[in-house]
Order: sequence, then structure tokens, then C-alpha cells
Amino acid sequence: MKNKIKIAVFASGNGSNFQAIADAVKAGSLNTEIALVVTDRPNAYVVERAKQANIPSFAFMPSDYDSKQLYEEMLKEKLASLQVEWIVLAGFMRLIGPVLLGAYENRIVNIHPSVLPAFPGKDAIGQTMAAGAEAAGVTVHYVDAGMDTGSIIAQESFKVNGRSREAVEKEIHAIEHRLYPATLQRLFTQ
Ligand code: GAR
Repeated sequence: MKNKIKIAVFASGNGSNFQAIADAVKAGSLNTEIALVVTDRPNAYVVERAKQANIPSFAFMPSDYDSKQLYEEMLKEKLASLQVEWIVLAGFMRLIGPVLLGAYENRIVNIHPSVLPAFPGKDAIGQTMAAGAEAAGVTVHYVDAGMDTGSIIAQESFKVNGRSREAVEKEIHAIEHRLYPATLQRLFTQ
């Protein structure tokens, strides 16, 4: 049988999507190995979650490097040493640059809390609410050099129907936590 695909999960914050992925791996519904959690914020809660899940994490400060190219070279080496094959972005709030895009062509995915191409970038849920949009939702997509512009792999939406931001956010996270592991499993078994 083919070895499990090894992934690195990149996250900058709470890490609830990392948690959903780690839980799916543990439950056997996602056949992959999380080799490493990478964060650009050493104090992010995702580091604690990784520890609890017994998954190694690596934190770096982008400001310690003179350029994105230099920190991406460092990450590329690190991922190569662990034989990481895919990068899974889960709330990683930085654009990926040419070094990692080149090393992981068509093997970097992201989850975004809107129905792309609507509301790319930061605070997509806030943007959705401020625009009075009829629908909110979640997109899983390949990562390219743009901001949330890569080709779409999976998408789910629902009607806002006058709900509060809090309620919309809750629904979005519930969708994310189900959709991301399921989409990864589909990608890895294709
Ligand atoms: C998620 O809602 C994810 O879709 C979003 O950040 C949140 C991270 O939550 N990502 C983006 O906005 C990317 N542009 P988490 O840390 O609890 O997984």
C-alpha cells in the first residue's frame, strides 16, 4: 500500500481548522500524516493544540528574516527534511511567495470564509456582513500568487437571512470543520 501523504499545516491563530484536520486523522476519516504545524505567530493558540495532539510545531518570526524569499527557503528545507508533500493553509495570514509556490506546485491548498471570488482577503466574514450579501460560505482552493485567487476545489454556501454576524460565523466554522478534512481526503485519494 502507498505510504500516507505527509502534510504540513500552516496557521496563524486559533487553529480550529488544524484541530478539525487532526481529529479527522485520528478518527481515520482522513488518511494523511501531519508531519508539522508551522506558524508565523509563536504565541498562537494553534501551538498549544499541536502539543495536545502530539504533533510537532515550528514557529518562526518573519521579522527575523530580511525577506520572504529567505524565510521561505528556510521553510522549504525544513519541509523537505520531513518529506512533506502538501502544504495545507488553515488560517495562515500571509501570502505564499515564489519559493514555496515553486516547490509545491498545485500542492498548496487554502480555506477561506467566503464564497470566492467574492470577498477575498482579510475579514471575509465582516466584508460579507457589511455588503449585506445574500449568501455566506466557505471555499477550499489551490493557492497561487494572488490573494485567495487560485482555482476552486470545493465550495459551500448558505443564505444569511438576516442572521447576526455571530450566527453566520458559527455556521461558517461548522462548515469549514467538516468541508476541509473531507476535501483533503478526496484530494489525497485521487
Ligand atoms: C478560518 O475561518 C479560515 O477560513 C480563515 O481564517 C480562519 C482561521 O480560523 N482564513 C482566511 O481568512 C484566509 N484568507 P482557525 O485558526 O480557527 O482555523
